[in-house]
Amino acid sequence: MSRNRFPHPRIWDKCIGMRQAIDVQAAMEAPLLAIAQADIDIVPLVFDRFFVSFPDERAKFMNLEAAAGRMVNETLEAMIGLAEDAWWVETTVTNFVDLHRDYGAIGVEVYAGFVDALTETLQEAAGDGWSADSAAAWADVAARLKGMIGGALDE
Ligand code: HEM
Repeated sequence: MSRNRFPHPRIWDKCIGMRQAIDVQAAMEAPLLAIAQADIDIVPLVFDRFFVSFPDERAKFMNLEAAAGRMVNETLEAMIGLAEDAWWVETTVTNFVDLHRDYGAIGVEVYAGFVDALTETLQEAAGDGWSADSAAAWADVAARLKGMIGGALDE
């Protein structure tokens, strides 16, 4: 594209970037809206799924009822924050990884299992609200969150 016309290639690239950002947000939002509309509480579904894969982790919880919703919501927030490249996500991840050191040894593969349990639950609960775009967008932030957790664990 010529530089002597509007839009300038730089602006054009920026617009494409913005459009992609909007699409990613819509793709991430659609399953959440579908779940909200169906009035499904995903919290117990996430934990059931997580404990099927990691039954030994159940013993770490003193008060699962109190922590479960906060765990799911904070993970969702971090993933949505990552989709927006929000500056605070890294701090949030460092903080919750540090907090969890008090709960026993939780390896990166266990965190990854929790993130997977959440993503799979979203897919199952969203029904028609889940699309190939949703799968790609959620898989991308899941991979980035796992990487960030791994980094925080290594600190
Ligand atoms: C992946 C992201 C995760 C996030 C964002 C997260 C977040 C949280 C939050 C916000 C709390 C509540 C703290 C409070 O209010 O006192 C909590 C508690 C807890 N989390 Fe997580 N968590 C995550 C993963 C995990 C994993 C993989 C485990 C593995 C077992 C785990 C085990 C616990 C335990 C044992 C508690 C204390 C609750 C109790 O004693 O019953 N968390 N977590």
